[in-house]
Amino acid sequence: MAKSSKRDLARAAAKARQRAVAPYSRFKVGAALLTASGKIITGANVESASYGLTCCAERVALFKALTDGNRDFLAIAVVARAPGGPMPCGACRQLLAEYAPRAAVWVADSRALRVIKEFSVGELLPAAFVDVPTDSV
Ligand code: THU
Repeated sequence: MAKSSKRDLARAAAKARQRAVAPYSRFKVGAALLTASGKIITGANVESASYGLTCCAERVALFKALTDGNRDFLAIAVVARAPGGPMPCGACRQLLAEYAPRAAVWVADSRALRVIKEFSVGELLPAAFVDVPTDSV
């Protein structure tokens, strides 16, 4: 992937981060998905007074993208004010393994957007559970 598109996606995630709704943790996260057709779909974390209902930026972006009909994802950028960038949580890794298994995962600190770490989804969630075996019911 060209450096410029990595940066573009990180910038889109940083912009989306500004719209995070995180009044409880105050930890704002932005995510941006790149589709095979070149579309960028963004999301940010949304928190609830019932803390467990919180939805991470990655999943907001993924749910938006999927329900708009997108299926083929090349990359996801995730940005927050965190040294080295925010690592996706286990729940988001599971969803990425199911719906964006080939996507590159790029993470960056919002204060150092040019320093982008790259992971594969398989690296973040090895041996993922991806389907219910049909003969198990
Ligand atoms: N969060 C994300 O949005 N993505 C991550 O990768 C890590 C955590 C959010 C959830 C919650 O709103 C806040 O960060 C603190 O955990």
